[in-house]
Amino acid sequence: MPDQPSTPPAVNHPPRSHFNNWISACGGVLAVGALFSFALLVWMDYTQGDKNPYLGIFTYIVAPGFLIAGLGLVFFGAWAQRRWALRHAATKPDKWRLDFSDPRQRRSILLFGSGALCFVMLSAFGSYQTYHYSESVQFCGEVCHRAMNPEFVSYQHGAHAHVDCVDCHIGSGAQWFIKAKINGTHQLIAYTLNNYSRPIATPIKNLRPAQDICEKCHWPEKFQGSVDITFDHYLSDKANTPYSVRLLMHVNTTRPGSPPGGIHWHVNRNEKVEYFASDDKRQVIPWMRVTDVKAGTSRVYRTADFKGEPPADQIRTMDCMDCHNRPAHVFPTANDSVEKSLAGGTLNPALPNVKREAVKAMLQKDITTADDAPGKIASYLGTKYAGAPELPATIAEVQRIFATTIFPERKADWRVYPNNIGHKDWPGCFRCHDDKHKTAAGETVRSSDCNACHTILAQGKAAEFELLNAKGLKFAHPGGALDPDLTCSDCHNGGVQQ
Ligand code: HEC
Ligand code: HEC
Ligand code: HEC
Ligand code: HEC
Ligand code: HEC
Ligand code: HEC
Repeated sequence: MPDQPSTPPAVNHPPRSHFNNWISACGGVLAVGALFSFALLVWMDYTQGDKNPYLGIFTYIVAPGFLIAGLGLVFFGAWAQRRWALRHAATKPDKWRLDFSDPRQRRSILLFGSGALCFVMLSAFGSYQTYHYSESVQFCGEVCHRAMNPEFVSYQHGAHAHVDCVDCHIGSGAQWFIKAKINGTHQLIAYTLNNYSRPIATPIKNLRPAQDICEKCHWPEKFQGSVDITFDHYLSDKANTPYSVRLLMHVNTTRPGSPPGGIHWHVNRNEKVEYFASDDKRQVIPWMRVTDVKAGTSRVYRTADFKGEPPADQIRTMDCMDCHNRPAHVFPTANDSVEKSLAGGTLNPALPNVKREAVKAMLQKDITTADDAPGKIASYLGTKYAGAPELPATIAEVQRIFATTIFPERKADWRVYPNNIGHKDWPGCFRCHDDKHKTAAGETVRSSDCNACHTILAQGKAAEFELLNAKGLKFAHPGGALDPDLTCSDCHNGGVQQ
């Protein structure tokens, strides 16, 4: 038995580490929990996260953040303990120490230990929830609310309101996963720094090829026959004269055994359509090439003023998105949305000039924020229709249309997001279908006459509109005889007519 030393009495403790203190212990638990979450998230990211770019934000930013905080706490505890021990060396150097030999402390340590275990388990559960949350529509549309609000609102009114954002924006496959993850993290940083562009620029360059996304649910062979669409308009005159066109769209005219034909011909498997657009929005197309995939032959069409060859890396193969570029986020024109309300009865066509005035009320130049709009719309319509019994309902409806289709802060509405599906308010199909694109032999694009893509079954109003013509009518333009030198979008712009 060694001699019992008299001073100092605490020497029989083994030399203590500064890390042995409650603060460091808490930090340690936090760090272990974070490390555990991190490992789980990385595992989920690589096994099933392939359609979820935002998971990366949690995996590589949030979880490591907690890990660093935990480690920080561990070192802070040691530093604080050392300071304490130096200052109070004489009296209570071991104040924060975890001491198993002390029965009172043993109980607290046991409690702390089981708490820590629970915490680590909960962090595993939390990681799993995080995974699901970060791929949800709420996360994309609501958390990034300010930035993506217009897309979220328009999405809820579209045909794809029940298709998750990630189904179109990400899809599956490791290569796109990594691209999207880099992009997702980049977006988060831009959003945090508040320097994302307004409007968000389109077309989106790293959107996946349509074959991988759209064709999961729609495939070209499936579209049989024609689609019947009616467009209801009201003229911008005093009587808001109704005018409708009913079109039979020749989406797929392929007959069994015959070569592919109709509008969806562009995405048939035998031929490939490529084009070069000279502007960022892909609205000006001076060059295109049709290649027979099996024979390897091709023909090139170009406009007279486009000389030379387009840069090889800017040639795009046409897919669904070159026509359906707004499948989920349609920003309807002011004319279209007002006409829809007139047809649906929420605006009263009996109110003189209401078509024009409703559109004008929404397009007032001095509306610069969403909060400005209701007041300015109310005062504009208030002066035009003072005393009319329909006034309050008219104001409310125009305010509603504005709120769901025009987003001044984000600068997002139809004027910046062209819809390529038709040709009335944007160039659309007429970017290529005109008589200006020619092959070297001088052939123009066939199917550029008015009955190639659709037949007009009926047009006009009332009894006139009920007369159907199976062969197709000649378009009776309500704005007067059509000038062959002008395209529709030279005059029609979705707002007040020029
Ligand atoms: C049916 C497929 C589809 C779904 C579902 C979808 N998007 Fe899109 N989205 C697109 C396409 C296609 C574009 C590209 C338009 C372009 O490049 O011109 C786009 C463009 C965008 C843009 C760029 C700005 C713009 O308006 O063009 C944002 C932001 C966006 N989507 C967010 C979302 C959010 C948020 C959701 C879910 C609430 C969502 N998207 C759901 C297909 C989809
Ligand atoms: C997860 C499945 C799914 C994906 C992916 C998908 N769609 Fe759809 N799409 C639907 C459903 C469901 C409808 C509604 C069908 C209906 O109304 O009959 C629809 C409707 C449509 C319509 C008719 C629109 C209308 O207003 O009636 C078009 C055009 C369309 N989709 C194009 C696309 C394009 C282009 C893509 C790729 C960007 C795409 N879809 C991706 C499921 C999907
Ligand atoms: C990038 C250029 C481009 C755009 C945009 C485009 N097309 Fe075409 N389209 C072509 C070319 C090229 C052909 C083949 C012309 C030929 O063989 O003479 C064609 C052929 C067609 C055909 C005939 C197919 C058949 O039966 O052989 C139809 C119908 C058609 N397009 C409709 C449309 C519609 C509708 C739109 C707009 C929604 C549109 N196109 C947009 C380039 C384009
Ligand atoms: C050349 C332009 C063009 C291309 C390319 C194109 N579409 Fe279409 N699609 C149209 C037009 C025009 C309609 C008729 C409906 C309309 O006018 O809104 C239509 C109709 C549809 C419909 C509705 C059919 C129905 O029965 O209601 C779906 C779904 C669709 N397209 C999906 C696709 C998919 C998926 C792709 C790619 C594989 C694709 N489209 C490629 C122009 C195109
Ligand atoms: C290359 C194919 C193509 C050609 C050629 C074409 N159209 Fe169209 N047109 C379309 C498509 C596609 C739509 C449907 C747009 C939509 O779904 O929103 C349309 C829609 C229309 C509409 C209804 C628009 C509305 O908002 O009321 C009219 C009217 C029309 N076309 C007239 C014509 C006339 C007149 C010509 C000849 C000068 C012509 N089209 C040539 C493809 C074509
Ligand atoms: C010279 C200018 C001009 C051109 C080019 C033109 N329009 Fe119009 N269009 C008008 C005017 C003006 C009206 C009457 C507007 C009103 O009273 O609302 C009108 C009315 C219409 C309407 C009914 C009301 C509305 O606003 O939708 C349709 C549909 C239409 N045009 C389609 C077309 C199509 C399709 C083309 C191309 C083939 C075309 N227009 C070319 C000037 C033009």
